[in-house]
Amino acid sequence: MSTINRKQFIQAGAALAAAALTPPALFAFSADRKIKVAVIGCGSVSNMYLPHLSKVPQVELVATCDIIPERARAAAEKYQIARHYDHIDKLLQGVSFDLLVNLTDMQVHGDLNKKALLGGRNVWSEKPMANTYAEGRALLDLARQQGVRIWGAPAVVNSPQFAFMAKTIQEGKIGKVAAAHAHYGHLGPHWSAFFYEKGGGSLPDLGVYNLATLTGLLGPAKSVMAMTSIVTPERTVDNMGKIKVEAEDNAMVLMDHGNGVLSHVQCGFNYFDPYGHEGEGQDKPTISIWGSRGNLCLIGYDWAPFGVDLATLENEKTVRHAADPGTYVWEQGASVISESLSTNTEPRINVEHALHVLEIIEAARASQESGKRIVLRSSFSYPLF
Ligand SMILES: NC(=O)c1ccc[n+]([C@@H]2O[C@H](COP(=O)([O-])OP(=O)(O)OC[C@H]3O[C@@H](n4cnc5c(N)ncnc54)[C@H](O)[C@@H]3O)[C@@H](O)[C@H]2O)c1
Repeated sequence: MSTINRKQFIQAGAALAAAALTPPALFAFSADRKIKVAVIGCGSVSNMYLPHLSKVPQVELVATCDIIPERARAAAEKYQIARHYDHIDKLLQGVSFDLLVNLTDMQVHGDLNKKALLGGRNVWSEKPMANTYAEGRALLDLARQQGVRIWGAPAVVNSPQFAFMAKTIQEGKIGKVAAAHAHYGHLGPHWSAFFYEKGGGSLPDLGVYNLATLTGLLGPAKSVMAMTSIVTPERTVDNMGKIKVEAEDNAMVLMDHGNGVLSHVQCGFNYFDPYGHEGEGQDKPTISIWGSRGNLCLIGYDWAPFGVDLATLENEKTVRHAADPGTYVWEQGASVISESLSTNTEPRINVEHALHVLEIIEAARASQESGKRIVLRSSFSYPLF
C-alpha cells in the first residue's frame, strides 16, 4: 500500500467533492490497485501501445484480441500476455478485466466500445470513439448507466508544450487572442483500407489532433465551416489491393471559438512530408497562435512536440520554451487512464472534449455537403489549466 502525497491528497479531496457528478467506477478501485487491461486490435498502433502499457507498474495486461487470430496470438506471445481471443464476445466472456483498450479500425470503434460498456468494462478508445456525435454521446450515457467510464484519444493535452501554451494564453501573455492555424498531413497509411472507406478519412485520423489542440487552447468551438475533397480517388493498400477512396483525404476547417477568436485546421493524406509517418525530426511550427501582445508557435507536431516559440511585445526576439519532453508520448493515453483508475484521480483527458472534437468532424462534413456554417451543440469544461 503506497502513501499519498499532498498533491494526491488534494486531488482525492477534489474528486470526492465531484463525486455526485462522477460515475462510480472511478471510486471502485482502492488506491494504486493494478488495472487489468485487455487490448483489442493488434495492428500497427498496438506496436506503440503495448510496449508502453507493458512498462506501467499499475497495468496488468491480461488479454489481446483481433479478428485476425494470428495477430492476437503473436502480440500475446511477444508481451507475455496470458490470453488471446479472435472475437470481442469471447474476450468479454473469457476473462475478467477493468479496461478495454480499443485499437481497431475506426468504423467499428462505436460497436465494440458499446459491447465493452454493456459488459461492465471501462474503455479507452482510439479516435474516433464512435462514428457520429450522437453515437458517441449515447456511449457516454451508457457508461454512466453502467457505472463505468469511457475516454477517447488523442492525448495531446498531456504534453508539456500544450501546458505551456495553455498557461501562456490564460495568463494573458499574448494579449487578446485573435487567430490560430494548425496543420498535419502525410501521404496516407498504406496498410489498411479503412482509413479511406466511409467513416475513415483524414479528419478523424489526422485533423483530430489539431482540433483537440486548438479547442483545448482556445475553448470549445461555437460553429464550423469547412471544405473537404478527395484528391486521390483510388489507392493501393496492403490488405485490400486497389480500392476506391470514399472519405475525404483533404480538409480545411474554420472554427469560431466565440469572443472573436477564429482558427483554422488543415489536414490530408496527400501532403509530401519529409518527416514521414512517424514525424521524425519535424522541427517546424505546425501550430501558430496570434494575439495582440504576442505569438506562440508549437514546434513539431502537436502529438510529438519539441518546444514552443514565443515572441511578445516586451520581448520581440523569439525565445524557445518547453523543450523538455518530460514523460509525454502520444501513445500514453491508455496508460494515463490506467494510472488514473488505479490512483482514483481524474485525468486531464476529458471525454466531453473528445465528443466535442467528434461533433466538429461531423459538422465539417455537413458544412461541405450543405455549403453552410454549422452551429455546434457540444462543449466541455474550459480552460483545461
Ligand atoms: N498506426 C498508427 O500510427 C496510429 C497512430 C495513432 C492512432 N491510430 C489509430 O489506431 C486505430 C488502429 O489503427 P492501425 O493503424 O493500428 O490499424 P491496423 O489496420 O494496423 O490495425 C487494426 C486492427 O484491428 C483489427 N480489427 C478490426 N476489426 C476488429 C474487430 N471487430 N475485432 C477485433 N479486431 C478488429 C484488425 O484485424 C487489425 O489488426 C485507428 O483508429 C487509427 O486511427 C493509428
